Amino acid sequence: IETALGQGSLTGKRILVTSGPTHEPIDPVRYIANRSSGAQGTAIAHALAALGAHVIFVTGPADVPPPQGVQVVRIETAQQMLQAVEAALPADAAVFAAAVADWRVASSSGSKIKKDAGRLPVLEFAENPDILATVSQRKADRPGLVVGFAAETDDVIANATAKRARKGCDWIVANDVSPATGIMGGTENAVHLITAHGREDWPRMSKQDVAARLATRIAQALG
Ligand code: CTP
Ligand code: CA
Repeated sequence: IETALGQGSLTGKRILVTSGPTHEPIDPVRYIANRSSGAQGTAIAHALAALGAHVIFVTGPADVPPPQGVQVVRIETAQQMLQAVEAALPADAAVFAAAVADWRVASSSGSKIKKDAGRLPVLEFAENPDILATVSQRKADRPGLVVGFAAETDDVIANATAKRARKGCDWIVANDVSPATGIMGGTENAVHLITAHGREDWPRMSKQDVAARLATRIAQALG
């Protein structure tokens, strides 16, 4: 069937998108993870592909299926996500929508940890690589436009602005995920786009509309 995919203002551009949570194993049957449906990252990948981009979609185990018309790379852990991202470079732009687990279990167990009358397991953690920061700071093959996300519950603008500087990315899409907003797990999003030139407050809209607007902005930036 003929679709709108294929031709548009991003035709010929190669864009990397990370999405979904990562799962960090405790043992073969248990893991730790961030809450993430993958809906916003999936919508962004779809919107970029609809403008003609070749999208490499690196996704953790999300609730929603990946979009049509993108190259899907499925991973579980943050370390695997970093490997997949580095293998996908070079790219014209990269959008980091994944909710990466900040920590993994330092030595996950190869066999199931059994309940043992009152003896509680103690987990030791190791810090995961920061994929966004790693890519932002690459020398030779840094994508021309690197976009990060910042889901915050407090001081959204200040935290996200500091995050942009710390990680070295070009744009941060910031949103307030405190429970009162009802954003987390929902179909809508209310974001701020933070760039070197300042900040735009976008009205609350569907995740699809956020994605379409962001894709249009990316197309403008890539010229
Ligand atoms: N990110 C990443 N790799 C990580 C952690 C985060 O690529 N190990 C990316 C996310 O995909 C997102 C951005 O970095 O685009 C910000 O993630 P966030 O969790 O808000 O930032 P952190 O630096 O982990 O700070 P915090 O302590 O607030 O969790
Ligand atoms: Ca984090």
